[in-house]
Amino acid sequence: MPPATSAPVIRRTRDEAQSLSLRPAASSNARAVWREAFRAVRAETERRASPLSAEDQVIQSMPDASPTKWHRAHTTWFFEQFLLVPHLRGYRVFDARFAFLFNSYYVAAGPRHARPMRGNITRPDCAAIAAFRAHVDAAVERLLAEAADAELAEIVRVLEIGLHHEQQHQELLLTDILHAFAQNPIAPAYDAGWRAPAISSSSTSSDAFAPLPTGIHSVGFDGDGYCFDNEGPAHQIYLQPARIGRGLVTNGQWLEFMAEGGYAMPSLWLSDGWALREAEGLDAPGYWRRQDGARDGAWLTLTLAGLLPVDPDAPVTHVSYYEADAFARWAGKHLPTEAEWEVAARANLLDDAFGVVWQWTRSAYLPYPGYRAAEGALGEYNGKFMINQMVLRGSSHVTPAGHARASYRNFFHPPARWQFSGLRLVEYV
Ligand SMILES: [Fe+2]
Repeated sequence: MPPATSAPVIRRTRDEAQSLSLRPAASSNARAVWREAFRAVRAETERRASPLSAEDQVIQSMPDASPTKWHRAHTTWFFEQFLLVPHLRGYRVFDARFAFLFNSYYVAAGPRHARPMRGNITRPDCAAIAAFRAHVDAAVERLLAEAADAELAEIVRVLEIGLHHEQQHQELLLTDILHAFAQNPIAPAYDAGWRAPAISSSSTSSDAFAPLPTGIHSVGFDGDGYCFDNEGPAHQIYLQPARIGRGLVTNGQWLEFMAEGGYAMPSLWLSDGWALREAEGLDAPGYWRRQDGARDGAWLTLTLAGLLPVDPDAPVTHVSYYEADAFARWAGKHLPTEAEWEVAARANLLDDAFGVVWQWTRSAYLPYPGYRAAEGALGEYNGKFMINQMVLRGSSHVTPAGHARASYRNFFHPPARWQFSGLRLVEYV
């Protein structure tokens, strides 16, 4: 059942995107601060799962999406596998069978259940997963309290990865349940109070495109605080003269693209995208449907609040890379590279860079110069996925607070459109 409270489940995070709230200052009581950060992240997962029934939490609506119950268990296994087993003396795993069920893709951590079969698992039930989470929570807190000072740095290093990992799954929990609800003819609402994220009014002003600073710039993470390994090494790039869209592309602009036959013009489409469009009959962004099924009915979209009219002023979302690329070609412009996006974000040229929708770039997800994945299972986190995927930048309105930053590299396969994925444009001078 939905929560009785009227407070929205989703809180917008755009203004918090540059801060990393998890890491304590060096002079503070690190053990207590990390314990509080751990509690806060773990509680946020449960808060996001709380509107969902046991039935909701089992479903897997496609191989790319995982059940809520699986997200809750997998993030817990991550702490058990990588933090407690190696570091907490005398720790007993909650259930020796769970490593097989809830290991996602870590080959070095042992055999695992097939990803597309996650929705077939009714047992362990939600109550067992809650007990698993409580067992691991108590053990992590014991580890933080009792670890020798000499061990604390390594423990915190892994704990911090685990917290950011769980935040990634908090976003996936919502995108995945939205995909599941979109398969349901009664169009359930996850959060009746949800509304499409508004965009900055300045995005429609006459200076809609801002000149990018040309020349050599540094991109990649080079600050204090946390980053994933794929955000480094920081390195230099060269920017051609260009102007970048301050604002996100809106549903209203997308409706123009559709009205001018954008989905029916093969000259706008990459070959793979056109093949997908034909195979799946794509004619609108993900989750859009015509009112009453009528061919000329108004467009509705399945949202976290259920079925709502498409708002022309809201940013377009749930578009694939192929669709974003076709739109850019139709508009006579381009998708930015990830370096262009990052330089522009650091120079404060972008409205709604964070906290609204992820933005496709035309950059393939590749290692930065000199990047090497770490040894061991955690080295599998990012590096082995650097093939056949495209980078998205920014963050969305369901990205947890404190998780985004200018150097953050999200990545998905080009056909993916169940994430909150939109776009902005660039033009060359
Ligand atoms: Fe994971």
